[in-house]
Amino acid sequence: MPSLPPPCLAPLLIALLATSPAVAQILDPPELAVVPRTAAETARIAAITAPPTDFTKPEAFEALPGGAASVRARTTADAFSQSSGNMPFEREMDFKLGNGLFRKLWVAAPSSTLASDGLGPLYNARGCQNCHVKDGRGHAPEGPEDAAVSLFLRLSVPGGVAPEGIEGYLTSLPEPTYGGQLQDFAVPGHAAEGRMTISYVEQPVTLADGTVVSLRAPAYGVADLGYGPLAPDTMLSPRLTPQMIGLGLLEAIPAADILALADPEDANGDGISGRPNIVWSVERNAPMLGRFGLKAGAPTIKQQSAAAFAGDMGISNPLFPAHSGECTEAQTACLAAPTGAEPGVRDGLEVDAAGLDLVAFYARNLAVPERRGLDDPQVLRGKQLFHDSGCAACHRPKFVTHRLEGQPEQSFQLIWPHTDMLLHDMGEGLADNRPEARADGREWRTPPLWGIGLTEQVSGHSHFLHDGRARTLLEAVLWHGGEAEAARQRVISLPKPDRDALIAYLESL
Ligand code: HEC
Ligand code: HEC
Repeated sequence: MPSLPPPCLAPLLIALLATSPAVAQILDPPELAVVPRTAAETARIAAITAPPTDFTKPEAFEALPGGAASVRARTTADAFSQSSGNMPFEREMDFKLGNGLFRKLWVAAPSSTLASDGLGPLYNARGCQNCHVKDGRGHAPEGPEDAAVSLFLRLSVPGGVAPEGIEGYLTSLPEPTYGGQLQDFAVPGHAAEGRMTISYVEQPVTLADGTVVSLRAPAYGVADLGYGPLAPDTMLSPRLTPQMIGLGLLEAIPAADILALADPEDANGDGISGRPNIVWSVERNAPMLGRFGLKAGAPTIKQQSAAAFAGDMGISNPLFPAHSGECTEAQTACLAAPTGAEPGVRDGLEVDAAGLDLVAFYARNLAVPERRGLDDPQVLRGKQLFHDSGCAACHRPKFVTHRLEGQPEQSFQLIWPHTDMLLHDMGEGLADNRPEARADGREWRTPPLWGIGLTEQVSGHSHFLHDGRARTLLEAVLWHGGEAEAARQRVISLPKPDRDALIAYLESL
């Protein structure tokens, strides 16, 4: 991602933001037209989002994790590629156009396909869909011969200044020669930056009933560097492409409701803190609540998408207008290469405002499939264990989205994402030791768990966590540490039928 824009002039104290509902409101994405809740609605929402007490049957509306935006769960690899179930017919065309841009394969400039050129010169993939395959998650390479496209490395070095108004911001700078991420491809005539290497060491974990589960611990490196050595203090952070469903609903959760869950000093003594990431909004030139990306480093779907156009594909757009994408000052040939921009066409950019909005609309409206088998006794037992083991403290089951004008799909829905959208210290085992805004090297944003049981069906694998190291849901849970250590210990001590029930619950999500 290109370097940070200049700091905002009006300093805002985030500590104050967290306590003032009036100010918290401005942390919601700027394009949301929010209709304030009435007192009666607030009371109804508190009642409906309270934790369940009866595990003998599903809760009301639990079958619809995305509220009315949910869709029937297809049994094919297309399960994550449907539009919001409640999308008015006249908006379907925008979804299709956005899908077209999401699937588009960009080519190097100059090219006869004028509307599709401008790739790179340095890039990670030629299209959004090449990483977000089937709108699902990416995978770690299966071996040295397998492409690592959907898993890439972010790079940075210590230094830099914090944008004004973000308390506790952990500064870092892009690697001076290679920039903020390693692009492992380049258009003809340019050297690729290099190639990520991974090696795994198997680590056995013995559960209370004697079962041994082997976890693979990764080590990352960079080989075949195209532009000289990396700075000696370079920090690497592996990022596996996440699934795309339900993102508009996550964007529509009131910032105030997310901030209300934060417990940075662990005041309630449950061992779980949870901190909001506060990041720089390029659109608004001000601090905003971070929601997207594996460390919640982006405030909105639009900014994340714009950063992907620029950083992953080298495509200029209204938020990141450099035609050469992520080329640094040191990469002179890259900066001098032809671009896909033409004066007077698409606002002089490779993707214009209308194109960026269509892609963001698409990304906002990939629907969450309905639950499967949620009234099965084993699944209900697993749900109880999910709550009793402390999973729900971070993987928050329910929220109610803002009432929104102009966004009927996301407006006022009871949703079941199973995330609190906050950062948690997950221990040394999962640490990348690289900060991002307020997230430190041990923190990750709780990922939503909706749709996780369909991973195998959509993606043909079941690789989980921020770098795909977990090969099963059980492995993913056994990697939990830090604030989640107590939950992990409870899972280790479960008898097999209960362990299977917990996994059956996850599979039903
Ligand atoms: C090279 C692979 C790659 C490409 C290409 C790519 N993405 Fe992503 N995408 C990722 C990764 C990895 C993340 C997580 C980023 C992070 O943690 O900072 C992500 C995150 C996202 C998110 C946030 C999801 C969440 O759950 O927080 C959105 C939205 C998104 N991408 C949209 C797009 C769009 C739109 C495009 C095309 C313009 C695109 N991506 C292209 C790999 C990719
Ligand atoms: C302290 C907060 C916390 C608790 C408690 C917690 N988790 Fe997580 N969970 C996370 C975070 C953060 C991640 C992402 C870690 C990473 O990618 O390195 C995660 C990842 C996962 C994943 C993988 C998701 C994916 O998309 O790859 C699963 C599955 C999961 N958790 C299930 C559980 C279960 C089951 C429990 C209870 C036994 C639990 N978690 C308890 C915070 C928590």
